[in-house]
Amino acid sequence: MTRIGTARLHEMKAAGEKIVSLTAYDASFAAVLDEAGVEVILVGDSLGMVLHGEDSTLSVTMEDMIYHTRHAVKGSKRAMIIGDMPHKSYLNPEQALTNARRLVEEGGADVIKLERGDSSICEMIRHIVAHDIPVCAHLGLTPQSVEELGGYKVQGREPAAAKQIKQDALAVQEAGASILVLECVPSALAASITAELQIPVIGIGAGADCDGQVLVIYDILGISGRQPKLSKNFLEVSSSIQDAVKSYVTAVKSGDFPAPEHQFS
Ligand code: KIV
Repeated sequence: MTRIGTARLHEMKAAGEKIVSLTAYDASFAAVLDEAGVEVILVGDSLGMVLHGEDSTLSVTMEDMIYHTRHAVKGSKRAMIIGDMPHKSYLNPEQALTNARRLVEEGGADVIKLERGDSSICEMIRHIVAHDIPVCAHLGLTPQSVEELGGYKVQGREPAAAKQIKQDALAVQEAGASILVLECVPSALAASITAELQIPVIGIGAGADCDGQVLVIYDILGISGRQPKLSKNFLEVSSSIQDAVKSYVTAVKSGDFPAPEHQFS
């Protein structure tokens, strides 16, 4: 079976069909997600928090990402696999390309994801894409910059910050990113970025008008020890993990998730 590619996500955006994404870090969860019809499995560096119990993603290494990506690939057949580039793995274009190649060749990722959208990140996106590796950008609340951002806070509430996020979104698209993850921004800002960009925008705490939604699997199962406003415990209303994931897929596809209480203004 061939995996979902970036072209399919672009078709879904054009058709107005919501893209469903969840994180997974191992073969068993990846298989559950694949079976439930999740289109994009994100092997996120959130694993530093939910698997390793750290307070941030900063300690995650390339070896961690390759290890977990390889196992998520092994458990799934259809979903696109996005592998996160961890903190400090993309400090310059050559290092970024070397590590992106490792994530694809050793980990089996279809697409790699990196955070922020300043000019040096755009240069790295250009370099990676020029070597035929598809890139997903990540803007808004970028957890690898938690120290600079002063915590896990909604981004883009002030007009100048909103303008910067929109400019960065256009810049990463222009640099060749095929997908954008937008995290923790006001819904109105996310809606206007989604409408302006040609590439699909997958939101987390970014409102209902994004082209798709992504959440951390352990949050939707209520086992991460936290219940962020942007997420929902789908296991509470389901009889099994498989049913909870299917309920999430149905809720995203129908537009029932995210509801107003999961969004920011
Ligand atoms: O690391 C991750 O899981 C992520 C999502 C929360 C978007 O980047």
